[in-house]
Amino acid sequence: MKVRMADKVEQFRTVWMEGLTVKIINQVKLPYEFEILDLKNYKETGEAIRNMNIRGAGAIGAAAGYAVAQAALEAPSQSYDACLKYIEEAADYIKSTRPTAQNLFYAVDRVLGMARSVKSILGAKLSAKKVAQQIADEDANACKSIGEHGEPLIKDGFKILTHCNAGWLAFVDYGSAISPIYTAKEKGKNVFVYVGETRPRLQGASLTAWELSQEGIEHKVIADNMSGWLMQLGKVDMVIVGADRIAANGDVANKIGTYEKAVLAKVNKVPFYVAAPTSTFDISCKTGRDITIEERSEGEVLYIKGYCSKTKSVEEVRITPEGSHALNYAFDVTPAKCITGIITEKGIIVAKKKSIEALLK
Ligand code: MRU
Repeated sequence: MKVRMADKVEQFRTVWMEGLTVKIINQVKLPYEFEILDLKNYKETGEAIRNMNIRGAGAIGAAAGYAVAQAALEAPSQSYDACLKYIEEAADYIKSTRPTAQNLFYAVDRVLGMARSVKSILGAKLSAKKVAQQIADEDANACKSIGEHGEPLIKDGFKILTHCNAGWLAFVDYGSAISPIYTAKEKGKNVFVYVGETRPRLQGASLTAWELSQEGIEHKVIADNMSGWLMQLGKVDMVIVGADRIAANGDVANKIGTYEKAVLAKVNKVPFYVAAPTSTFDISCKTGRDITIEERSEGEVLYIKGYCSKTKSVEEVRITPEGSHALNYAFDVTPAKCITGIITEKGIIVAKKKSIEALLK
């Protein structure tokens, strides 16, 4: 199914499962084209995560859960051991697709754990699919609750800065950082959003701006290096960002550039909130130093992709001299001390070990 880019898209989840097929909104085509991809087996779903056809912590978590369910349904049925071995190998492969977002590991381990605990072939297959569906539904519900808990922080007329895409495209529905903004809008508040463009892959410029346009929320895309100046001018009332993994001490891994915004917010006394479901917390990481930070190909920095009005097609162009190389860490870590609060589906907590322990009890 394809919709031209100017059309308003009806309500969709980012990822869902029909029979043996996982369906996703193809995020590498946005904002130019709205396309649904059919992923027929766990390998195709894994590749779609690796290639970022689907991205964002909650969305890749749900897709990964569905991928393990696909593996369970595809697995050989001659013996329980052979069936489980197939699922375990698939789980390892799915975990290898992207290293930083905790939601992916949470979902794979939960579906695999269920398949292991049900000691029959049919039981493993059916329960894997059921748990994967539960994970996706829980993600959507958690994000809706994040919106309800975060909304009171937003006053009428607020100008909010966000980074990357932590809207509904990054989850199954609603989003994390953008969910309180959607709820504020529903309640009749005027909100304005500054969207950091988020080099190198431009998730802010291409995805968050698209989402906000779809919802009729006033916004402007800003170059990544503009947020400090806007804060100095007193034009930012609060910052809300998402998270890919939160360590036991409250340090937060999120899209590269988040740390800079957090430091600037602290210096300029602007409240800095992180929004994330509890599936993003990983207390096996004592601090942010224990979080694996993904390093991606230099091509993402050396080249830029966009719509060319002359050829009327999406094109990629090099923006650096031939022979220059680039460094491409996809995430950074914001220290807990820079975070005003973490908005979760269970309420808002301070970014401290004791509060996190109490939250996850
Ligand atoms: O590399 P991505 O696009 O999968 O990165 C994830 C993100 O979109 C952000 O870091 C986001 O703020 C957290 S996920 C909701």
